[in-house]
Amino acid sequence: MQQKEIYKCEICGKVMEILNPAAPETICCGQPMKLMEPQWKEWKTEKHVPKITVDGNKVTVDVGISMGTPHPMTEEHWIMWIEVICKEGCYERRFLSPGDEPKATFTFANPEGLIAREYCNLHGLWISEK
Ligand SMILES: [Fe+2]
Repeated sequence: MQQKEIYKCEICGKVMEILNPAAPETICCGQPMKLMEPQWKEWKTEKHVPKITVDGNKVTVDVGISMGTPHPMTEEHWIMWIEVICKEGCYERRFLSPGDEPKATFTFANPEGLIAREYCNLHGLWISEK
């Protein structure tokens, strides 16, 4: 296990993040939780890929808006959170709700070497970097 890995229970749907990588395997509903492998693709071809836009210290991450197809934000299918990890070890997350725009803005003193992740309740974890 590694820090920041996301695990999901395939029975009850619980989602957890690892903060202590020394922890043993996590069991939920009687079975090991499933590692949510981050999915990578070119953002122009896949609406789930978090697109990072940097403007000075301001960092905007959107899901599908930049390609003209915003990811759905309905009660059945939505982006649960968007987060940015920077190389100095900082980590910021915005939780979203159905009805919100599928995007989040952040401010970083040094917005270089950024990784963005987003989590879709149906399609899992997606990642990109800038
Ligand atoms: Fe989705």
